[in-house]
Amino acid sequence: MQHIIQALEQKRAGARAGGGEKRIAAQHGKGKLTARERIQLLLDQGSFEEFDMFVEHRSHDFGMGEQKVPGDGVVTGHGTVNGRLVFVFSQDFTVFGGSLSEAHAEKICKVMDQAMKVGAPVIGLNDSGGARIQEGVASLAGYAEVFQRNVLASGVVPQISLIMGPCAGGAVYSPAMTDFIFMVKDSSYMFVTGPDVVKTVTHEEVTHEQLGGAVTHTSKSGVADLAFENDVEAILELRRFIDFLPASNREAPPERPTQDLADRDDFSLDTLVPPNPNKPYDMKELITKLVDEGDFFETQPSYAGNIITGFARIEGRTVGIVANQPMVLAGCLDIASAIKGARFVRFCDCFGIPIVTLVDVPGFLPGTAQEYGGIIKHGAKLLFAYAEATVPKVTVITRKAYGGAYDVMSSKHLRGDINYAWPTAEIAVMGPKGAVEIIFRADIGDAAKIEARTEEYRTKFANPFVAASRGFIDDVIMPHGTRRRVAQALRMLRKKQLSNPWKKHDNIPL
Ligand code: HXC
Repeated sequence: MQHIIQALEQKRAGARAGGGEKRIAAQHGKGKLTARERIQLLLDQGSFEEFDMFVEHRSHDFGMGEQKVPGDGVVTGHGTVNGRLVFVFSQDFTVFGGSLSEAHAEKICKVMDQAMKVGAPVIGLNDSGGARIQEGVASLAGYAEVFQRNVLASGVVPQISLIMGPCAGGAVYSPAMTDFIFMVKDSSYMFVTGPDVVKTVTHEEVTHEQLGGAVTHTSKSGVADLAFENDVEAILELRRFIDFLPASNREAPPERPTQDLADRDDFSLDTLVPPNPNKPYDMKELITKLVDEGDFFETQPSYAGNIITGFARIEGRTVGIVANQPMVLAGCLDIASAIKGARFVRFCDCFGIPIVTLVDVPGFLPGTAQEYGGIIKHGAKLLFAYAEATVPKVTVITRKAYGGAYDVMSSKHLRGDINYAWPTAEIAVMGPKGAVEIIFRADIGDAAKIEARTEEYRTKFANPFVAASRGFIDDVIMPHGTRRRVAQALRMLRKKQLSNPWKKHDNIPL
C-alpha cells in the first residue's frame, strides 16, 4: 500500500511540476502565469477538483515514448466562481508547448461533456502551440472532437475563452465558436496563418501582435471581446463577468441583492439629450444611470463603438443592454455594429437574458463601402436576431428612430414587449431635412419655402406622438423616471412565455 501511495504522490508531484522549473521560469519571464496558477486565481479558494491528472499521451514517434508528463499539457476539472459551478481547462505551455495531443483533446472533451450534463459554463484558458506535431492526424482529430462539442454546447452552456498565449492555425476555431473571447495584451495572439506565411504569400511584413494580438482582435477584426493588460487582470475580470451569466439555458440568470432602489429618479437625464438634434451625447451616461449601482460590463468596447453592448443588472437581475451611441458615426448602424449587436442579442436570447434597447439611430450608414461589403445581408442579421428573440424586450427611444433602423431596434413590430419614448423622440422615415428635399424637390431653390416645409415636417413627425397614437409606443416617459419604468416593465415580464414555430433551425443571413 505504502509504495502505491508513494507512487501516487510522485505522479501528482510530476503533474504539478508541469514542464519543469526552467520552463516555468521562462513562462514567468514572459509575464505569463502557469496553467495551475491561472486556475488558482480563477476559482474560489480550495474549490478546484481536478480530472485526469494521470493521463499521458500514447505517442511513440520522434522519441515521444520517452517523454511523458502526467496530465499531458492541460489541466482540467471543475470548481466554483463566487460559489457557482464552472468547468475549466487550462493549457500548460510548459508541457510540449501546450500542444494538443489526442489524450489532451480527450481531457478537454471530458470536461465539456460533464458541463453539458450538469449545465454549467465551460471556461477555456488557451496557451498552446496548436496540434501536437508528433501526433499528426490523431491531433487533428482531437481538435475536431473539441469543435464538435463547441457547436453542440453553443446555446446550452456559456462558453468563454481566455487567450493567454499562442493560438494559431485551425486551433483558433474552437475559441471562435465560443460565446466570448478575452485576450491578454502582448502575450496572446490568434491567427490562421502566422507572420512568416503571410510574408511568403502576400509579401506583407507584420509582427505577431499586429497580425493577431489582443488590440488587433478587439479593435480591428472584432474576433475578441476584451483586451487586458495581463493574466491577473483578465482572470479577475472573467470572475466578474461570469457573475452576470446563467449556468445554462435551463436556468434563470443569477440574482444579486442590491441597495439601489428600482424607483430611483435621475433628474440629470432630463437634460441629457441636447436641444440641437445634430449634437451628440454619451449614451453610456444613460446606461450607467439606468442600471444597478452603475455597474455595466461592456463587451467589445473598442469595436463598432456606434453600438454599445454589455451586461448589467436591474433590480438585481441580469439584463443585456444594446444601445446606439450618438458619439460614434452619429449612432448609425453599419456592417460591424449590426454583426456585433446581432451576436449579442442572440446570446441573450439563448440564455434567457432580457434585452433593454436604448435607441438613438439616424439610419443605416450610406456609401459604397457599406453596400459592397453587404450591409443588406449584415444589417439583416440584427433585424433577424431581434425578430426571433423571445426573451423580454424593453425599448426606450431617446431621440432619433428613423427608417429601417427604427424597425430593427427592437420595435413593437418585432415583438418588443414594452416600447417607451422620451418626449425628445423623433420617430419617422427620415430626418426633416432629407424628407423635405425629397418630397418637395421642386422647391429646393426657394430657401424660405424649404424652411417652412421642414418646420411643418418637424412639427408633424419629429416627435413620439404619431407612433404613440398608433400604439407602437406604449407610453411617452420622462427621462428622469426611466429606471423606474424599465424596472417595472421587466418585473411585469418576468414570467413571459413566447415560442417560435417548430423548425430544425433558422437560416439567419450569414
Ligand atoms: C509539439 C510543440 C508545438 C507543437 C511548440 N512545441 N509547439 N511541440 N507540437 N505544435 C514545443 C516546442 O518544441 C518546445 O519544446 C516548446 O513547445 C516551446 O516551444 P518554443 O518554440 O520553444 O516556444 P516559443 O519560442 O515561445 O514559440 C512558441 C510557438 C512555436 C510560436 C507556438 O513553438 C511554434 O511555432 N510552434 C508550432 C506552431 C504550429 O505550427 N502549430 C501547428 C499549427 S496548425 P521544448 O522541449 O524545446 O521546450 C494547428 C492545426 C490545428 O494547430 C488543426 C485544427 C483543425
